[in-house]
Amino acid sequence: MTKILDVNGLVTRFYSVDGVVHALNEVQFDLEPGETLGVVGESGSGKSVTMMSLLGLIPKPPGRVEGGTAVFNDGSDTFDLLKLSEKELQEVRGGKVGFIFQDPISSLNPTMTIGKQIAESMMTHLQLGESEARKRTINLLQQVGIADAERRYDSYPHEFSGGMRQRVMIAIAVACEPAIVIADEPTTALDVTVQAQIIELTQRLQKQMGMAVVWITHDLGVVAGMADRVLVMYGGTVVESALVDDLYENPQHPYTIGLLGAIPKMEGEDERLVSIEGSPPDLLQPLTYCPFASRCPFVFQRCWKERPLLIPIGKNHDTACFYDVERGAPRDHV
Ligand SMILES: Nc1ncnc2c1ncn2[C@@H]1O[C@H](COP(=O)(O)OP(=O)(O)O)[C@@H](O)[C@H]1O
Ligand SMILES: [Mg+2]
Repeated sequence: MTKILDVNGLVTRFYSVDGVVHALNEVQFDLEPGETLGVVGESGSGKSVTMMSLLGLIPKPPGRVEGGTAVFNDGSDTFDLLKLSEKELQEVRGGKVGFIFQDPISSLNPTMTIGKQIAESMMTHLQLGESEARKRTINLLQQVGIADAERRYDSYPHEFSGGMRQRVMIAIAVACEPAIVIADEPTTALDVTVQAQIIELTQRLQKQMGMAVVWITHDLGVVAGMADRVLVMYGGTVVESALVDDLYENPQHPYTIGLLGAIPKMEGEDERLVSIEGSPPDLLQPLTYCPFASRCPFVFQRCWKERPLLIPIGKNHDTACFYDVERGAPRDHV
């Protein structure tokens, strides 16, 4: 199947007063049309910077996207997101690619009614007239579970609760029936019940519209429940990617194994990433060896000399590690 998104060699750096932050080091992943890709990894591993680099939302300066390609292909249109002008990116954002962030307050315009914000997006991206856009917006607000949508059309963001604002954000993200929706920890600030409702809503809209969803989270329970495939990030790299069941049953990267081992199994407890002993890699240093070496129980000499790249180790399963945990020996031919 043609990939809706194919990202290769994505390099993003921040030129800070302390030095160069090597935030993304040849990040690589792809996305199938209609699938849900979960992205996990501890804080600072590069999840948000990856998605912001793709959408042209890195603050410049200090940030710079310095390498890579990110080919979007929806069957009718194909282009490299990293080569678009700001004007072209504006067309893509909210058009072919929708996005939802953790904090809707900073993403919603506080001075514009939510109805108008959604309708304007439809008018810009879909070239709809005003009355058609209004009609569709009210319909969409109903679909995302906003009661009394006709009246709420004229409400401002601050008049909604946290959960309701996140529903509005979802409405904006899907307003133009995008091919991809990127959601960056969209439920982290919400309580568990509302979280479940937001996930359910996203999945319903996804089925209805056929869009692919990238769902960034630090909650492995959420990923297990909704993702088709999972990307594990560490130190600004992708260290493992696999179909969700395969990842949980047969994790290959020592970091993933650590993460899964750290899931509390208690009933009703939410499953968060518990930190693994040791400290994350210093991103001020260029990545010339394995970013996980200092915390890895399987580390050997080679891991300090070279950086392992992602290699296929099974159907739909890639890992960036020199050690074969199953065999209990270094991998041959890598
Ligand atoms: N504006 C910035 N200036 C300097 N460093 C940044 C900036 N934004 C992000 N970074 C760095 O990039 C790295 C990846 O961050 P991020 O993608 O936000 O992590 P997360 O996986 O938690 O979303 C972190 O080390 C972070 O400190
Ligand atoms: Mg983040």
